[in-house]
Amino acid sequence: MQPVAWGIVSTAKIGREKVIPAMQAGRLTRVAAIASRDLASARAVAAKLGIPKAFGTYEEMLADPEIEAVYNPLPNHLHVPISIEAAEAGKHVLCEKPIALTAEETKSLIAVRDRTGVRIQEAFMVRHHPQWRRARELVREGRIGRLRAIQAFFSYNNPDPANIRNKADIGGGGIYDIGCYPVVTARFLFGVEPTRVVALIERDPVTRIDRLTSAILDFPEGQATFTCSTQLIPYQRVQILGTAGRIEVRIPFNAPPTEPCRIYVDAEGALGDASANPEEFPVINQYTLQGDAFSEGIRTGAPAEFPLEDSVKNMRVIDALFRSGKSARWEAV
Ligand SMILES: NC(=O)c1ccc[n+]([C@@H]2O[C@H](COP(=O)([O-])OP(=O)(O)OC[C@H]3O[C@@H](n4cnc5c(N)ncnc54)[C@H](OP(=O)(O)O)[C@@H]3O)[C@@H](O)[C@H]2O)c1
Repeated sequence: MQPVAWGIVSTAKIGREKVIPAMQAGRLTRVAAIASRDLASARAVAAKLGIPKAFGTYEEMLADPEIEAVYNPLPNHLHVPISIEAAEAGKHVLCEKPIALTAEETKSLIAVRDRTGVRIQEAFMVRHHPQWRRARELVREGRIGRLRAIQAFFSYNNPDPANIRNKADIGGGGIYDIGCYPVVTARFLFGVEPTRVVALIERDPVTRIDRLTSAILDFPEGQATFTCSTQLIPYQRVQILGTAGRIEVRIPFNAPPTEPCRIYVDAEGALGDASANPEEFPVINQYTLQGDAFSEGIRTGAPAEFPLEDSVKNMRVIDALFRSGKSARWEAV
C-alpha cells in the first residue's frame, strides 16, 4: 500500500515533538510538508525534522497537489475553520481533539465531509493504544462482571498565560484540553452515550479558563466520574470497576512510546495491589498507530471506526458539562 503524503498545519508543539516523528515512523504515513504563519518557522522545523517542503501560509500548502491529507493541530477555535478549508481543497483531515468547540460546530464538518468526499476524523490517539483495546475487550468478555463505574483523573500544572490552554477566547481550558479524554474513554468502554451529566467547574479568576472540574456522567448501565485540572500536580489514572473485578489503566492518556505499558486486572479485590495482575503491552507509539489507521482508511475506503458522528456525540457531552457548570444542575446530553 502506497504511503499517504501528509501536510502538517502549523509548527504546534504536539506536532513537532510527538506526532510528526511518530508519523515519520509510520508504515503508511509520509510527512511531505509543513506550513506555518511564518515561513522561517516552517523552514526551521522542516530542516530539524527532515520534512521536504515548508510553506509560509497554510493556504499555500493546501493548494499543493502533492498533499493528500493534513494533520490539524491548531488552537481549538481553528479546528473547524481550517479543517473545512482543507476539505474544500480536497485534502483528508486528521484534526486534533477537541475537533470543535461545540457539537453544532462539529455537524458543519459532517456536511463538508459528505459534500467533498474527503475523510475527516478526530485525533483521539488513545483509542488506538492496545491497552485501551484490551481494557474494552476485558469489559466485553465480562472479566470484571458488569461494568458499573469508571473513575478517571487527569491533571497537569501549566500557569503560562501565553499558552493556548490559558486563553479562553481561543478554546482554552481543562475540559477541552484533557477532560475530553475521560469522556471519550468512558463512552468507548460503556459503548453507549450518557443520558445526563453534572459538573462543578472552577474558573481561573484572571484567565477565566476552567482550571478544575469534577463531573459525573450518568450512563444507562452505570456512572463515570472524572476530575481534571490544569493547575495541579501532573497525574493520570483510570479505574474501571465492575461487579466482579477491576481494571486499572496506569498511564491511560500519555502512554509513553519508549517503554511498555501495563494495565492491572483484579478479580479478587484484595486490599492494595495484592491481587492486581499486570498485563503488559509491547512498546508502541499510539500516534503512529493513529496515523497509519487514518491513512489505511484513505487507501481502502473502509468506513471509519470513529467517524465524525462519534465526535458529535462526544461534543454533546462536553456541551452538557459546560451547561451544567453554569446551571449547577444535571443537564441532559
Ligand atoms: N493528542 C495529543 O496528545 C495532544 C497533545 C497536546 C495538544 N493537543 C492538541 O493539539 C493542538 C495544539 O496544541 P499545542 O500545545 O501543540 O499548541 P501550540 O504549540 O500552541 O501550537 C499551536 C500552533 O497553532 C498556530 N497558530 C495559528 N493561530 C494561532 C493563534 N491564534 N494562537 C496561537 N497559535 C496559533 C501556531 O503555529 P504557526 O505559528 O506555525 O502557524 C502555533 O504554533 C490543540 O488542539 C491541543 O488540544 C493534542
